[in-house]
Amino acid sequence: MQKSYWQKQRPLWECPQLNEDQETDIAIVGGGLTGLLCAWMLKDSGRRVTVIEKRRFLENNSARNTGKVSALHGAFYHTLPADIAQSVYQLNRTAVDHYEQLIRTADIACRWQRTSAVLAAQSEEGAAILNQEKAALSALGAQLGDPPSFPLPLTWADQLAMADQALLDPWLFQAGLLEALKDKVTLYEESPVVEIQDHCLISDGSYRLRFKDLILTTQFPAFDRLQLYAARFHYQREAAAAFRCDPALDGLMLNTVDPGQALSLRFARKEDQPTLILAGPAIGIHHYPKDPYAPLLQTAKTLGVHQPLACWSAQDLIPRRHLPFIGQIQDHYWIASGYSKWGYTWAMIAAEMISTQVQDPAFVIPEYLRARRKGDLFSLYTLGNAATLTEAFFKDRFIVTPENQPRRTGTVVRLHGRRYGVVIPEEGLEFLVDLTCPHMGCPLHYNPADQTWDCPCHGSRFTLDGRSLYSPSNVSLQHYPGVNSLHPNLK
Ligand SMILES: Cc1cc2nc3c(=O)[nH]c(=O)nc-3n(C[C@H](O)[C@H](O)[C@H](O)COP(=O)(O)OP(=O)(O)OC[C@H]3O[C@@H](n4cnc5c(N)ncnc54)[C@H](O)[C@@H]3O)c2cc1C
Ligand code: FES
Repeated sequence: MQKSYWQKQRPLWECPQLNEDQETDIAIVGGGLTGLLCAWMLKDSGRRVTVIEKRRFLENNSARNTGKVSALHGAFYHTLPADIAQSVYQLNRTAVDHYEQLIRTADIACRWQRTSAVLAAQSEEGAAILNQEKAALSALGAQLGDPPSFPLPLTWADQLAMADQALLDPWLFQAGLLEALKDKVTLYEESPVVEIQDHCLISDGSYRLRFKDLILTTQFPAFDRLQLYAARFHYQREAAAAFRCDPALDGLMLNTVDPGQALSLRFARKEDQPTLILAGPAIGIHHYPKDPYAPLLQTAKTLGVHQPLACWSAQDLIPRRHLPFIGQIQDHYWIASGYSKWGYTWAMIAAEMISTQVQDPAFVIPEYLRARRKGDLFSLYTLGNAATLTEAFFKDRFIVTPENQPRRTGTVVRLHGRRYGVVIPEEGLEFLVDLTCPHMGCPLHYNPADQTWDCPCHGSRFTLDGRSLYSPSNVSLQHYPGVNSLHPNLK
């Protein structure tokens, strides 16, 4: 999978694997934004805290986003009931300030920059949505200012701006947080958790980590204790790309709201080179195109930027009403998930609420965020997701590449009634990978743009040789390298 602009030319964090049985008080599974922020909040609690990460730190989704820390989440507040909108707005505004405090306290150099977040519309339909959002924000008492002007060849039907939001470099922020945590909490990487038993989690090396409390921050809840999250989310993936640009775009932090075409734009600097980052539009993972970068590169041309410095993809989970699940799924087990691509403020809110409740069981998480809320389960949203998942489960299940087509990486063959994907490395022997998703058995697709095998159901992704990248699958795919034991006639 391609590295993001933030990850390119930057080293990963070096940590040990869990390679013996251990004990801790609080185990945090997942070392993305949420996991690291939970560790930060709990590091001085007087309890032993351990973060256990499946891949390498800084390889995750949180180092692949656009680094906007904002309470302005697209056109969102007008879709919520007024009392919930008020509470969500206050929480998110405060979360932005809490980043600034954390960054100061931990002395993290992550190019934190306060600027105005802008929502803009090019179409009349988008302008109508913006109008509703303006009304909702005014009712919440939000101060809306004049949008700053940037030299972009775009015409807006309408815009709104919220002052005092922020930009940061996602890689530098997480690397700084890891640095601040390393002497206070135990960090393990390359240690996928494959099973959770009573107060004990088991890594794929069969080592056990005993815990008193468990916080699951695996984006998709890796173990869901029958809260049926698989049907509670809509799954979106987005292409992103970075380009050299005019330094006069400094401070640009903009999202468009035109239906079906929503784009994210921001200015960034790495090694002091002015850069424009573009992302979007979001696409349901079951419809993800073979070349997701082509429309983005086309948009870039219209903006007068050309050679991409990096192209990558990232994904997130969208719950009903865009309200995440935060809190306990059973005694001593917490989850946080479903940030609808606004993970900075939600991760801060989740980490604050969970770390407080872990230490004070009397602390109450608002009902509209609770992980065990029932309303979502019996909603049209969940039914719609279930229908999409059923279609993804059956579609392509019986399709294989016609035999008269040349075999190449991505060719799908059927052997003994099962689908396998062919991989032909630049060097070495062709091999096969089992294309049945270990999570719930959906048929995996080849993604030529990112060189991954992707699941169209709940977003699991795997490297070409089958290593698990994204949850919910916790295990890797079976692969059959070299001389093929499944089919001796295949080399
Ligand atoms: C294109 C795009 C742009 C975005 N831009 C923004 C933005 O500008 N601002 C914003 O606020 N949000 C943004 N987001 C959203 C944000 O990136 C995510 O919401 C956030 O990164 C989620 O953080 P997380 O900690 O929950 O998950 P992750 O960062 O995915 O971390 C989860 C971790 O858990 C690990 N894990 C999973 N399973 C296991 C297991 N079994 N054992 C051990 N470890 C495991 C994973 O390897 C991973 O490291 C964007 C999202 C997308 C798709
Ligand atoms: S079946 Fe759920 S991610 Fe593949």
